[in-house]
Amino acid sequence: MASAPPASRPRWDDLPAAVRAAVQSRQGAAPVGIDYPSGGFTPGIAARVDFTDGSRVFVKGIALNDRTARHYEAEAAVGPYLPPSVAPELLWSIRAGGWLLNAYEDIAGTIPDLSPTSPDLTPALSVIGLLRDELTPCPAPGIPPVSTILAELTGGWATLADKHPEALDPWERRHLAALLSSDDSDLLTQTSAGATLLHCDLRPDNLLIGGHRVRVIDWSWATRGAAWVDAAFLVPQLILAGHTPEQAEDALAAHVPAWKAAPPAALTSFAIAVTGYWRRHHVNGPGGALGDYRRRAAEAGQHWITHRTGWA
Ligand SMILES: Nc1ncnc2c1ncn2[C@@H]1O[C@H](COP(=O)(O)OP(=O)(O)O)[C@@H](O)[C@H]1O
Ligand SMILES: [Mg+2]
Repeated sequence: MASAPPASRPRWDDLPAAVRAAVQSRQGAAPVGIDYPSGGFTPGIAARVDFTDGSRVFVKGIALNDRTARHYEAEAAVGPYLPPSVAPELLWSIRAGGWLLNAYEDIAGTIPDLSPTSPDLTPALSVIGLLRDELTPCPAPGIPPVSTILAELTGGWATLADKHPEALDPWERRHLAALLSSDDSDLLTQTSAGATLLHCDLRPDNLLIGGHRVRVIDWSWATRGAAWVDAAFLVPQLILAGHTPEQAEDALAAHVPAWKAAPPAALTSFAIAVTGYWRRHHVNGPGGALGDYRRRAAEAGQHWITHRTGWA
């Protein structure tokens, strides 16, 4: 089904002619149809492209001088090492005309619905449950430790308290001292060390379900660490999809073995850190769809923190 790309994403005709010519040359056929999926927030092109020879591939790309280009480079670097049981195949990656383009096996599927009664839920959680065994030891070289991302997540509450105290809601004001002391980068660094290749951006729009099979896409934040971290990233997403925090944690316990290895204090600190990250970027960042997502994600995070701590 044809759909419009997010307003900020380029369309195929916006690509420089040299880039389009390089795609045609690499694929060995000319594009005849372009379809724009709706998921994702990055500013690059994301398109399902049909070619004259009947082939169809998913292409995502970015100008190399864009500040997000390193994520597309990271995705190209990890792609060849991802097993087909969890991710679509990276078919090719090219640089041309100042752009980087990554082409993947096209998945005829949709973004799964992770709500509590959805038939997509069990297949989605089951593939997340495979990640630890499929991706340990980390199959790709040169992957940074997950502590690099967790360090970026922490510190949101300190920034808010320091620069935007007026933006804190009454619950946040009541519990600010505890939020600050539990937003603990050292604890997260120690407890997140591990040898599993992690995704670090598990959300419904980074999953695709076709038939009953779910694949994990968009490995642009790949890191190496303890497998529980990816399960933890999913909790606020399950809450956003309509689960109570308790239901979300129970669903992970039932389907994702790595969840049970998560140290409870680390999970609480993770919940506090990720929520502070969303709050800080909601207060400081753009509005629009991304701002709206961060607001809702921070609300989900607050529910999760309340469930884990009892802070009323
Ligand atoms: N291999 C694929 N086959 C078909 N559609 C895909 C594929 N990979 C991604 N998509 C669609 O494109 C959207 C954006 O892709 P994604 O890799 O998540 O890009 P971004 O980095 O912009 O988030 C996804 O939400 C999904 O709907
Ligand atoms: Mg994405």
